[in-house]
Amino acid sequence: MACKFYAVCVLLACVLLAGVPLSQGKESCELSLLEAVLEHPDLEELAIVIEGAELIAILDDLEQVTLFAPNNNAFNGSNGLLSLLGLEGASLIDFLLNGNNKAASILLYHIVTKPYTASQLTNGLSLETELSGYNLTVSISSTGSVVIVGGASNATVVTPNIQVCGSVVHIINAVLLPGALSTIPSQPSNSTPGSTSAAPNQAISSTLLLGLVATATSVLLL
Ligand SMILES: *[C@@H]1O[C@H](CO)[C@@H](O)[C@H](O)[C@H]1NC(C)=O
Ligand SMILES: *[C@@H]1O[C@H](CO)[C@@H](O)[C@H](O)[C@H]1NC(C)=O
Ligand SMILES: *[C@@H]1O[C@H](CO)[C@@H](O)[C@H](O)[C@H]1NC(C)=O
Repeated sequence: MACKFYAVCVLLACVLLAGVPLSQGKESCELSLLEAVLEHPDLEELAIVIEGAELIAILDDLEQVTLFAPNNNAFNGSNGLLSLLGLEGASLIDFLLNGNNKAASILLYHIVTKPYTASQLTNGLSLETELSGYNLTVSISSTGSVVIVGGASNATVVTPNIQVCGSVVHIINAVLLPGALSTIPSQPSNSTPGSTSAAPNQAISSTLLLGLVATATSVLLL
C-alpha cells in the first residue's frame, strides 16, 4: 500500500517537473511569441533581426498582440528589406551593426497592439502598432488576399493565423516600412517598450548572432 502510494507520488512529481519548463511565468502558454519565431523555418532572417535590434526581451514578453512576420524572402532579393531601404550593397548584418537601431522601429511597426485573426482583418481597418504614432491599414485585394499597407510599402499575408499564447502571427511576404529610411525614428535601445535590460547601448556582435542560432537550434530540438 505504502509502495503503491510512493509510486503514485513519483509519477505525480514527474508530471509536475515535466510541466515546469512549459510554464515559466506564463501558466497557460507553451510557447512565447519569440519561441514561435525562433522555431519557424520561414522566419530565420526575422529571428536574426530581432536579436540584432535587441528586441528579444520584448518578443518574449508580449501577449495579446498581432505579429506580421516577414518571411526569409522578405529580407533578400530585389523586393527585400535592403533594396527597399536603398542599401543594396549592404548585408543584413551590416545594417544591424550600423547601430542606429532603426531596425527596432521597423520591427515594432510589425506588431499590432491587439490580436486579430485573418477573418477579423477587414478592408480599411486601421491597426495601431507598437511603434508609437504609426498605424497599418488592411486592404483586401480583389482576389481576397489580405494586404497590409504601411507607409509606401505593403505586404501580403502568405500564412495566416498561427496562434501563439493569445497572440496571432501572420507570415507576410515583405517588410513593412513606416517611411523612407531617413524618416524612420531610431529606438534608443534602453527605452524600447517593455525592455527590462539596463545594459548600455551595445553594438551587437557576431557572437550574439551565433548565440541566437544556437538558441533557435535548441528550441527546434525541444
Ligand atoms: C539572404 O541573404 C543572406 C546574405 O545576404 C544569406 O546569408 C541568407 O541565407 C539569405 N536568406 C535566404 C532565405 O535566401
Ligand atoms: C490607429 O488605430 C487605432 C485602432 O484602430 C485607432 O483608434 C486610431 O484612430 C488610429 N490612428 C490613426 C492615426 O489612424
Ligand atoms: C502595394 O505596392 C505595390 C507596389 O508598390 C502597388 O502597386 C500596390 O498598389 C500596393 N497595394 C496596396 C493595396 O497599397
